[in-house]
Amino acid sequence: MLMAPKEILKIENLTTHFYTWAGVVKAVDGVSLEVKEGETLGLVGESGSGKSVTALSILRIVPRPGRIIDGKIIYKGENLLEKTESEMEKIRGKEIAYIFQDPATSLNPVFSVADQLIEVIRRHQNVTKEEALEKAIELFRLVEIADPEIKIWSYPHQLSGGMKQRMAIARALSCQPSLLLADEPTTNLDVTIQAQILELMKNLKKKLGMSMILITHDMGVVAGVADRISVMYAGRICESAGTKTIFYNPLHPYTRALLEAVPNIAMKREKLKIIPGAIPNLVSPPSGCRFHPRCDFAGPACVSAVPPLVEIEPEHYVACVRAKEFSGKLPSRS
Ligand SMILES: Nc1ncnc2c1ncn2[C@@H]1O[C@H](COP(=O)(O)OP(=O)(O)OP(=O)(O)O)[C@@H](O)[C@H]1O
Ligand SMILES: [Mg+2]
Repeated sequence: MLMAPKEILKIENLTTHFYTWAGVVKAVDGVSLEVKEGETLGLVGESGSGKSVTALSILRIVPRPGRIIDGKIIYKGENLLEKTESEMEKIRGKEIAYIFQDPATSLNPVFSVADQLIEVIRRHQNVTKEEALEKAIELFRLVEIADPEIKIWSYPHQLSGGMKQRMAIARALSCQPSLLLADEPTTNLDVTIQAQILELMKNLKKKLGMSMILITHDMGVVAGVADRISVMYAGRICESAGTKTIFYNPLHPYTRALLEAVPNIAMKREKLKIIPGAIPNLVSPPSGCRFHPRCDFAGPACVSAVPPLVEIEPEHYVACVRAKEFSGKLPSRS
């Protein structure tokens, strides 16, 4: 019998809050998810649902006034929340790499791409400048940039959006991380370039045997890339399952609403819906299920208690008290 792949990352009850003058922003509030070895997990949700804060928490780089106040982040069997700062420095970039939501912020406009890559490579590897340049050119080849020996001497402002993103990927891969956190890596690119970058990331992941968390608000993006999907809403995970299950048997009304907002999928059903209402204020979020004010199926139980994330069928987790009723026959929204 085939052994099920082990998880490389397992997050349990992660809680990260921001202590602002306006109150405590409960940005991530009891998130649990896992990434299996070699797989891509899509982390999906509307803007403000806590996707980036979750990723920043994994690397323990949540900006002030944010603080991780509870939970476990088990990476290769060890809890990152118990590591010292110097142990974390070794993990960042080398074990776990992060492609930031806005690649421009991770590039220094004053230095050439070559200089920046050489610096990153030499920070983690004991190599000469010449060897680091060789490696940098190799990385450019890996991310399929033409004429790497010439292009590597460009300055960030000389690169197009797609090139900048390839460069950010090259930088993230420079120390052969085991886990890549890619935060909206294609959001600001036009559709053709977006498809190219996603294809590149898919191939690289396979070639290098990495695991990946792909963060996006776009169900269409994860459809072709992710093995499994965790859907996030207002600081919590509402559903986690294999990609096919999420698309063909979504059990959380929020997942379903998100899918109905994807043009291609919605068009097959001949209607495109938007999710009415807005993501709640995370200083004083709704009681019980945070989606209840926007949910067509909410009842008293949804208002009174937080629904736990329950394994409804093997490898399919749903945080909805009515999920069992919906299985295979989700009532239609009017
Ligand atoms: N520095 C901060 N101070 C206060 N609140 C913050 C801070 N950073 C994030 N938040 C809050 O945390 C919540 C989650 O933000 P986060 O950036 O994780 O969302 P996201 O899902 O990544 O959204 P997007 O799709 O827009 O990138 C939001 O309500 C946001 O306002
Ligand atoms: Mg974000």
